[in-house]
Amino acid sequence: QADERESMYLVSEFAKDYFENILWNTEPGKAIGLTYFKERGFTDGTIKKFGLGYSPDEWEAFTKEALAQGYQLEFLEKTGLTIVKDNEGNTGRKQFDRFKGRVMFPIQSMSGRVLGFGGRILTNDKKAAKYLNSPESTIYHKSKVLYGIYHAKQTIAKEDTCYLVEGYTDVIQFHQRGIENVVASSGTALTPEQIRLIHRLTNNITVLFDGDAAGLRASVRGVDLILEQGMNVKVCAFPQGEDPDSFARTNSLEEIKQYLGDNAKDFIRFKASMLMEEAKDDPVRKAETIRDIVNSISRIPDRIQREIYVQECSRIMDISEEVLFNTLAQMGRKEV
Ligand code: CTP
Ligand code: MN
Ligand code: MN
Ligand code: MN
Ligand code: MN
Repeated sequence: QADERESMYLVSEFAKDYFENILWNTEPGKAIGLTYFKERGFTDGTIKKFGLGYSPDEWEAFTKEALAQGYQLEFLEKTGLTIVKDNEGNTGRKQFDRFKGRVMFPIQSMSGRVLGFGGRILTNDKKAAKYLNSPESTIYHKSKVLYGIYHAKQTIAKEDTCYLVEGYTDVIQFHQRGIENVVASSGTALTPEQIRLIHRLTNNITVLFDGDAAGLRASVRGVDLILEQGMNVKVCAFPQGEDPDSFARTNSLEEIKQYLGDNAKDFIRFKASMLMEEAKDDPVRKAETIRDIVNSISRIPDRIQREIYVQECSRIMDISEEVLFNTLAQMGRKEV
């Protein structure tokens, strides 16, 4: 088991080096991959820092090279870098590179080991998945990793706060602009394990949401898990159609800091206002909203904080404190 994991780490490290080498030192790598990253505004230094790469648009280029270098097919398959089929199916082959023709984002552990990859297509083909990620394996558990944690950990501890974003490129663009205490949940629903990784370093999180209404409600749900760990949470939404990456690309460090300063809001207040806005004058939805916000408050371990939030939400939502306290009691926090 330990040997298997070690072999998987080694093949993953090899893959990172391979994809980087393709990016910097081959014609298709330079013409397609490097051009793509440059068009996104990434500098050479940034591309190297994050070990970004390119996987050739050929069925088995990576797999063949890895096998030629003595890596075993077993571990190529277990890391998901190579897809192995028991028949030739519609591709006409038994094995092929998972990340064929994609730009590559290596995903590293807190200590810098390569655990897996995200691979992005270069076209805007809506039929293909924009990002393809390594499958779950004995070394890659997506619920337990945060993209960028290796490069962010020192600054998170030093600044005693962390930005949590949605995507790979949000992390990278923030770093390039000089904000290094940033990690990404990589599009998955936030998990307690991911939050614990941050909690080891700081008690303070600001969650930055992409400016798309669809994502917001779903993402807000995951934030309750941060409250549960007794951490201080702020949230900040970006303008419609923008995400931290696009915003950071077109704004200076000062402008980004200004935006975050003006728009990062206490999570409970933000959620209460957002839900009330949505419920407007609909009494049924307003009732749901009250239960929803009280549910969030009930996650907070500290009873004095809970009490303060009940008072605040009473004002924001124009509901008596008594109703909120009663709802809270029904939800199992009876000692308020
Ligand atoms: N994601 C994924 N698979 C997809 C879409 C998204 O794994 N098909 C993950 C990726 O980690 C991505 C994150 O969810 O970085 C956020 O998704 P989204 O905001 O749609 O992508 P961006 O990071 O903004 O990607 P880009 O700017 O490259 O379009
Ligand atoms: Mn704490
Ligand atoms: Mn999004
Ligand atoms: Mn995004
Ligand atoms: Mn984006």
